[in-house]
Amino acid sequence: MNIIRRVTDMQRESDRLRAAGASIGFVPTMGYLHEGHLDLLRIAISRCDISVCSIFVNPTQFGRDEDLARYPRDFERDCALIEALGCDILFAPDESEMYPEGDCTFVHVDHLTNTLEGAFRPTHFRGVTTVVTKLFLAVRPQLAVFGQKDAQQVAVIRRMTRDLHFGVEIAVAPIRREKDGLAMSSRNTYLGEDERREALALFRSLQRARKLHDDGERSAANIQRFVAEEILRSGTMTLDYAAVVHPDTMEQIEDEIHGAALVVVAARIGSTRLIDNTFLGSEGSSS
Ligand code: PAF
Repeated sequence: MNIIRRVTDMQRESDRLRAAGASIGFVPTMGYLHEGHLDLLRIAISRCDISVCSIFVNPTQFGRDEDLARYPRDFERDCALIEALGCDILFAPDESEMYPEGDCTFVHVDHLTNTLEGAFRPTHFRGVTTVVTKLFLAVRPQLAVFGQKDAQQVAVIRRMTRDLHFGVEIAVAPIRREKDGLAMSSRNTYLGEDERREALALFRSLQRARKLHDDGERSAANIQRFVAEEILRSGTMTLDYAAVVHPDTMEQIEDEIHGAALVVVAARIGSTRLIDNTFLGSEGSSS
């Protein structure tokens, strides 16, 4: 596996590969990889001639009071995992490479970023869209793969990619869960034993939503209430939001659910913030 650290080297290699007719599939990550990330890479590998994975813990998407300093890192382990899978290139720039001295350009997607995660983490999506733009311009992929767990991120990246004519196809991999249902996340490592058990309330609440919908419930407000109750029943979790939204616009469904809908939840347990989601009915264009 070729490890590239500089943007210009990545661009040169990408130009060379594209000139030779190779398609490039890209998986951006912040490292501390789990099976969920590896699923994304499997898609890139199966669909493209060359696979590129990036590892960069992006400071601009963390709020001032968030977990940038303690975000888990294990570069050697990550390298071994993706190399074993057959990844061709690891792009691993450092902070000064991605944000050179004096850097003052940001990419902002309006509207979609104001609600849900955006309401609780006001600068988060600006950091994500800025770094993903920089990564796309460095790697120049035809395909980029993201995880459904970050459903709003998927919607935002799709909109940005379309609005800025990036010419990158966005593919989305389903949420990878632990055996007991907890959605895989690098942040799960923060959870103590009791917290880990209590965090399952998120998955239970989503299962409950699906069951209600399967049984014919179509009131978004009712489903939302049941989901919130299930999470709060744990007694130890603080709910940031539980909402039934349209999967592409992330706008809350106010009345009856017709067609594709997504239940999204975010909650805090101790100092850890977890998110999860599930589709109701047909999966719409975000599956
Ligand atoms: O989903 C993530 O891990 C990050 O938000 C991403 C897309 C790698 C940008 O830093």
